[in-house]
Amino acid sequence: MVELGKVDQIIEKYAGDKTSVLAILQDVQAAFNYLPREAMNRIGEKLEIPMTQVASLATFFHAFSLTPRGKNIVTVCMGTACHVRGAPRVLAEIERELAVKGGETTSDGEFTVETVNCVGACALGPLVIVNGNYHGNINTADVVEMLHEYKPATGEGAK
Ligand code: FES
Repeated sequence: MVELGKVDQIIEKYAGDKTSVLAILQDVQAAFNYLPREAMNRIGEKLEIPMTQVASLATFFHAFSLTPRGKNIVTVCMGTACHVRGAPRVLAEIERELAVKGGETTSDGEFTVETVNCVGACALGPLVIVNGNYHGNINTADVVEMLHEYKPATGEGAK
């Protein structure tokens, strides 16, 4: 169930300004880690913009995700420089450790694994970015420890 109160707060911050729709979508995505359909409906309603217009903006910009994502976003660079330095092995190890494939979210909603093609930090390759934190020159032996940094402090899998 999407907390629409949170969406309303974000819309209010922009004082219902129609030209702020992109910024509102960005803030909603930051709050939920994706753009829930209910949230897009609410934005359309409050700003008096057709839902189709809100949805087409959301689908046009690749930075937005329309499907639920995990609390932690693990992005593996698969660009050429990272690829030749072992990114496929690192990705395979992450997939094995989290029991998901690239593009998927773990069943506990903790991690989403994604791939990108070069983020312009090739000297750091192979590179994995978790929640915006760069983990450079990573190898398969580092993967478990890196992921543990982001696992919940309690329960199975905690340090
Ligand atoms: S190829 Fe990975 S950062 Fe450029």
